[in-house]
Amino acid sequence: MRHLLTLLIGLSFSGLTWAESTLGLPALVIPADNPQTTEKITLGRLLFNDKRLSADGSISCASCHQAGKAFTDGLTVAKGVAGQTGTRNTPSVLNAAFYQTQFLDGREQSLEAQALGPMVNPVEHGLKDHQAILEIIRQDPNYLSLMTRVFNIQPQELTTDHIGKAIASFERTLIAGDSPFDRYYFGMDQSAISESAARGSRIFRRKGNCAVCHEISINNALFTDNRFYNIGVGYKQLQPVLDEWLAATARGDQPDYSAWSDVQRSELGRYAVTKMPANIGQFKTPTLHNVALTAPYMHDGSIKTLEEVIEHYDKGGESSRFVDAKVFPLHLTKQEKADLLAFLQSLTSFQYTQPTAGPAHE
Ligand code: HEC
Ligand code: HEC
Repeated sequence: MRHLLTLLIGLSFSGLTWAESTLGLPALVIPADNPQTTEKITLGRLLFNDKRLSADGSISCASCHQAGKAFTDGLTVAKGVAGQTGTRNTPSVLNAAFYQTQFLDGREQSLEAQALGPMVNPVEHGLKDHQAILEIIRQDPNYLSLMTRVFNIQPQELTTDHIGKAIASFERTLIAGDSPFDRYYFGMDQSAISESAARGSRIFRRKGNCAVCHEISINNALFTDNRFYNIGVGYKQLQPVLDEWLAATARGDQPDYSAWSDVQRSELGRYAVTKMPANIGQFKTPTLHNVALTAPYMHDGSIKTLEEVIEHYDKGGESSRFVDAKVFPLHLTKQEKADLLAFLQSLTSFQYTQPTAGPAHE
């Protein structure tokens, strides 16, 4: 943690601030209206880990985004207050600071805006409204004094914006690059990865067509283009209701979801934000840093291992007319699949592979 903080000593330039970059990642842009300070980050970490900020005192952000599991929960779909299950797999918040939009359908534009969503989501923290969040904070003198110091405000001036800002500042410290692949590709260290992983990195960029969406730039690799695609996951759920619904939409009728399950609604993906039929079943391209630590995979957690992810892409996804043209049968050999797997496993940050380092960020 300490060495990460030293990376966050910002460089100021024309009103915006960048943190210094980590090997394999671009410099992080810090919003001008929410500068990083040590005390704000501490406050954000407290909020992130505080179970009092939930309907029954059982759930914090860290219940689902667990530091020891690379900020995921290892479950197929998330579990919130009173054991209720959601419809989506918990993504890691490591490097979420680099995404241009937040959530798998991109429905929020910033970490600040995203942070309040889970607290009032009935199956996550389950709080009634934003007022309920503020009441919990106001009852704790320690929070109040931190809040007033960090934001230079009077207690009565406290709003949920301050809470979102503090959590976002903490999340901007959850940065993890510097993997064996980063050392090989950007650090010019030929011995950092195996020959198999090196071959896998070429398959990833060429025959596998992966880097078309999971982008690798000249100086860094976010492994995301921040766009949304249907890669043929979860269509079977939607199929029974889709045709009738599409026909109704084409007629200009008001869409009727009353017979749909929560899972079916979730499967609409990016459509929920844009209301454009072309966006049905599209989800944001996720980063692949530390992907070996974040099973199970995909928005619905339906793919259990990286081997199975590779099989999924090899067959061109579950076929449906919505699958993106960039996903097609690859005809990889057994060796090519093994190489691609070795490559994906070389994306684990050094801070997670050092046996003596212990869980990061605690
Ligand atoms: C019950 C489990 C759960 C809890 C509690 C929870 N999250 Fe999440 N988080 C999820 C799931 C599931 C998603 C994906 C949901 C979606 O995209 O619709 C997500 C998405 C996110 C994302 C977006 C990541 C991306 O890839 O776009 C961020 C950031 C995040 N959560 C931070 C938080 C913060 C901050 C809190 C506490 C205020 C929190 N989460 C509480 C399960 C949880
Ligand atoms: C058309 C763009 C596109 C292409 C091409 C593509 N991906 Fe993806 N990838 C995505 C999207 C979008 C998701 C998320 C889909 C979802 O959640 O349903 C994803 C998810 C993944 C995941 C799961 C990540 C997680 O955290 O759940 C892995 C691993 C992955 N892709 C690897 C690959 C590999 C390897 C290839 C090449 C064989 C590849 N991708 C090709 C867009 C793409």
